[in-house]
Amino acid sequence: LPRQRGFLRPIRMYKGFWVTESLLPRVLALQDHFKPRPSDLILVTQPKSGTTWLKALLFAIMNRTNYTFAQHPLLTRNPHECVPFLEIPFRNRFSDLEAIPPPRLLATHLPYSILASSVADCGCRLVYLCRDPKDVVVSLWHFARKDRPDMRLSEAFESFCEGVSLSGPIWDHILEYWRESLRRSEKVLFLKYEEMMAEPVGNVRRLAEFVGRPFSEEEEKDGVAEEIVQLCRFEKLSSSEVNKKGIYEAGEITLPHESFFRKGQVGDWTNHLSREMGEKLDRIVQEKLAGSGLSFRAS
Ligand code: A3P
Repeated sequence: LPRQRGFLRPIRMYKGFWVTESLLPRVLALQDHFKPRPSDLILVTQPKSGTTWLKALLFAIMNRTNYTFAQHPLLTRNPHECVPFLEIPFRNRFSDLEAIPPPRLLATHLPYSILASSVADCGCRLVYLCRDPKDVVVSLWHFARKDRPDMRLSEAFESFCEGVSLSGPIWDHILEYWRESLRRSEKVLFLKYEEMMAEPVGNVRRLAEFVGRPFSEEEEKDGVAEEIVQLCRFEKLSSSEVNKKGIYEAGEITLPHESFFRKGQVGDWTNHLSREMGEKLDRIVQEKLAGSGLSFRAS
């Protein structure tokens, strides 16, 4: 299997995608042993595409009758502690997925073709969130620099353009879920970070409907969707004590919570990539997505 240094840790090519080497045994075990339930909701992203935000939003939507907004778990817990990744053992154990009561809220960076085939068969719902690859690569580079301060942006950019990134090539990851969302729109919802940012309340309504928990008239009158958007805003989450000081620990992964929050903006790539770099990545992505009906508006 080809191997690369990766952004944070070594990655290996597996079935056409780059997977964190140390997580590969867990990924293989998942394919054989993960038992999805029809009531599961699985959130899927490429790293740095808005995973933390999506986890917070869905956690708030699903649990909205359990907590008040003034005393919400998201005020004192990082979203990654509320919604575990399938492929990353959390609380340092492997078997915890079975213990989560339904409806389980889970997340993954795995490509569709590597997810357990039982996920498609069981008919559980998937929410896919993607982001303009130019902003993804800039976000990834900032994230990786915490571990590898010497990493140059040009180096990260060239690797990314060659398809080398965790769960990448990014375009293949996006395309797999895009096609599945066209084939099974009632089970796979396809979202873009930029559209969510432009219209967060409308998209929270859309998410609530998709997961079978639409807002009631009463909730609409009380502005619950707006409250959820406010609770999960970048400024709100990133300024909480837990996200400024806390540490995310799962399996061998230890990261300060604050590393999941940087700027939370659309188009920050223009502050880091040259116009030529932006055009190059746009061209590659356009070519890869050609004919799919999917595009990222040039920004
Ligand atoms: P930037 O580095 O561009 O700021 P992930 O959660 O998939 O790791 O993605 C991290 C990216 O999402 C970072 O992007 C981060 O700042 C941004 N982000 C984190 N929380 C967010 C929120 N509540 N709303 C919008 N963006 C958020």
